[in-house]
Amino acid sequence: MTSSPPPTNDRLLRALRREPVDRTPVWLMRQAGRYLPEYRASRRDAGSFLAMAKNPDLACEVTLQPLRRFPLDAAILFSDILTIPDAMGLELYFVEGEGPKFRHPVRDAAAIARLGVPDMEGELRYVMDAVRVIRRELDNRVPLIGFSGSPWTLACYMVEGGGSKDFARIKAMALNDPKALHALLSVNTDAVIAYLAAQRAAGAQVLQVFDTWGGVLSPAMYRAFSLPYLTRIARELERGDGPDRTPLILFGKGTAAYLEDLAASGADGVGVDWLVGLDEAARRTAGRVALQGNLDPAVLYGNPDAIRREVASVLDAYRDGNGGSREGHVFNLGHGMSPDMNPDHVGVLVEAVHAHSAR
Ligand code: CP3
Repeated sequence: MTSSPPPTNDRLLRALRREPVDRTPVWLMRQAGRYLPEYRASRRDAGSFLAMAKNPDLACEVTLQPLRRFPLDAAILFSDILTIPDAMGLELYFVEGEGPKFRHPVRDAAAIARLGVPDMEGELRYVMDAVRVIRRELDNRVPLIGFSGSPWTLACYMVEGGGSKDFARIKAMALNDPKALHALLSVNTDAVIAYLAAQRAAGAQVLQVFDTWGGVLSPAMYRAFSLPYLTRIARELERGDGPDRTPLILFGKGTAAYLEDLAASGADGVGVDWLVGLDEAARRTAGRVALQGNLDPAVLYGNPDAIRREVASVLDAYRDGNGGSREGHVFNLGHGMSPDMNPDHVGVLVEAVHAHSAR
């Protein structure tokens, strides 16, 4: 928010503005989660993931857990992208080992017509309360990242009713009733903009949109059903100017083919997975946005020497594609962490980023 002072560690905010930093900032997607024994203990006490996410004090506790272990440069709100459809009435639940599911998926134009934007200080107040509690407890040490799913990625779960391998139902809808799908994407976009604006008002200092399933679309379908809605968010979401601006990062999985479009969307940063080199990504985006990424998460299964080597190679690739400068890079994985990863290896990674990128 414009009224609060910048965090003491403002490397992430500076990097997203492409300003000089003493070393490249690093945070990790899914940095709070099952790979940490203290997370598993909190979840056991709370009873379930959702009970934890819906309780602001518990959400705050698990948000802070990775920061107690590692000198990360940002915190990310502990929540989920599926809070929006849950608040729209689809009713989110989890089956152990099967991932997220909805009790009331939306499968036709009539169900879509009944959807509305949830009240951000009503059904979704627990998310905003979590942001407020975390900001208070962080006490400005590092910035807090808020987030949302992309309209397309949310629609995938809403139509499929859970995770999917082939996205058969939503692709059938795209082919057979594109008008209905556009209506769904449109209400999702309104909800995402309101959700991110409310997180910003509650104190989130950086915002990220996860387009996790953008890469399952053909180019023509991506340009019809995902990109225009991401662009609308980047253009319409009010986020201030100058040093008080709240930067927006668009992360896509398997969407490197569209880097130029994402860089022109109005976003401040673009998150990239590990299927493209950061040298190529930096050349193709040519300083129009900051880049975030893109270590293959599986590198965390390697030994410490391998981790240091791969970290250095990502940092150097960015510099090589960015005219020899390291500015404008936020180090991250190309996607989230997995439950079977070794926490000690995360420590090695963070230290390697800081050591190898020191200016
Ligand atoms: O990064 C962080 O530390 C912040 C927390 C965060 C979670 N989910 C916590 C979580 C974030 C940013 C998300 C986003 C999210 N949720 C995405 C987009 C990011 C991505 O990975 O591409 C998606 C697709 C979801 C939907 C979802 N929620 C899935 C697929 C799962 C995993 C189900 C499983 O059993 O593996 C969840 C649950 C979830 N969200 C967990 C966590 C830590 C695991 C819950 C648990 O069992 O403890």
